[in-house]
Amino acid sequence: MGVRALLVTALLTAAVGYYLYTPLPDAIQEPWKLLAVDAGFRTIMHLASLKHWLGLDHSATSIQRSIDGFESTVKSLVGSESSGGVIPGVKVSDVSFAGIPVRVYEPPAGGEGHLRRGLVYLHGGGWALGSAKKGSWDAVNRMVSDELNTVVVSVEYRLYPEVLFPEPYLDCLAAAKHFLSPAVLAKYSVDPERVAVAGDSAGGNLAAAVAQGISMDESVAVKFSVQALIYPVLQALDFNTPSFLQNQHMPILRRDTMVQFWLQYLGADLSLLPQLVANNHSASQHSGITPELRSRIDWTALLPQKFKKNYKPVVVEKGSQEILKKVPGFLDVRAAPLLAGPEVLAKCPRAFIITCEFDVLRDDGLMYARRLQDAGVSVTNEHYEEGFHGSFSFLFWPMDFDVGKRSVRAYINWLQNNL
Ligand SMILES: *[C@@H]1O[C@H](CO)[C@@H](O)[C@H](O)[C@H]1NC(C)=O
Repeated sequence: MGVRALLVTALLTAAVGYYLYTPLPDAIQEPWKLLAVDAGFRTIMHLASLKHWLGLDHSATSIQRSIDGFESTVKSLVGSESSGGVIPGVKVSDVSFAGIPVRVYEPPAGGEGHLRRGLVYLHGGGWALGSAKKGSWDAVNRMVSDELNTVVVSVEYRLYPEVLFPEPYLDCLAAAKHFLSPAVLAKYSVDPERVAVAGDSAGGNLAAAVAQGISMDESVAVKFSVQALIYPVLQALDFNTPSFLQNQHMPILRRDTMVQFWLQYLGADLSLLPQLVANNHSASQHSGITPELRSRIDWTALLPQKFKKNYKPVVVEKGSQEILKKVPGFLDVRAAPLLAGPEVLAKCPRAFIITCEFDVLRDDGLMYARRLQDAGVSVTNEHYEEGFHGSFSFLFWPMDFDVGKRSVRAYINWLQNNL
């Protein structure tokens, strides 16, 4: 072997090692599959940053395009059946609700005069990626429509970089209000007593925020009767909760990536990332954060010991007072639903909350479950000891995970019994 070949081999080995070597906890099942999926995502993200840096494309746009390319390749290789396929009875239409594009799934017609369930779905993807029309979001919504006789409205809200907070929230709220109007529910034969709002990850954030908004809005007569939040994003003041610390390097959502999604969504300067990771934006001397507000995200009081372990709170004394002044979204309940007061939570619908042990967002979900319960709202917390962020979307070969399939089944069963 020549020197050049040796060098190339060494570089390739290092590159593969760099991508594939992320130590995973023993509880993770199918670890090699997760590492492979993670390597794929990281390659897409790195290439996107490179293109962005070269001025060729906005990184969020090119990540979206690469994921689309990957999905259509898989589809053409294995046929659309394995990626959820088309359920014959479900009618799918792409229409607009109050000017917002939505995809509506209507179940096979039941008997005349029978009212059906309704569900508003908000997909995840860090407020920057994903689509109602794609992948497992589309597939799960078809299943819910078919199996639970439900009219599902999946909102194609606008994403970063096209828009920033609060636009994505306002898009979802407007589409939800339109669906909840008595005339529209009647048009779709939906029972006003049985309408849910649901979402995963950043979509879980939007679902929780929209549920609060609708609950508090006296001009909306029909309210959601349940909310289903799948590993939701709920606060941006503490990036050092036990789950953010424990899972900071965990595929496929690392702490830095989550913080970057927040900075993008709130329209903040991306160079603030190290300050946020250090909790410098929520320093204890910050006059904008009252003790009452702080108690609403205080994991030392809100988490069971099992999750607190030996972690210590990271509270910086001085930090940077400027960040919250420049980026008011950090303190806005429409961005961070965990900051809402007990009087708001008390009005919220019954909740199903999925949390995963190996997810930076685990404690966001656990704290919200506890606070809703303290406010008198009934909550089912489905916690997956072997779960990781994103697992709810990994259902189809070659990216299928048993824990993902089980969590989707649990979501459908809960809706069956509670909606
Ligand atoms: C956080 O703020 C402190 C001042 O309280 C400063 O010394 C430190 O460098 C900041 N950390 C980061 C990561 O910027």
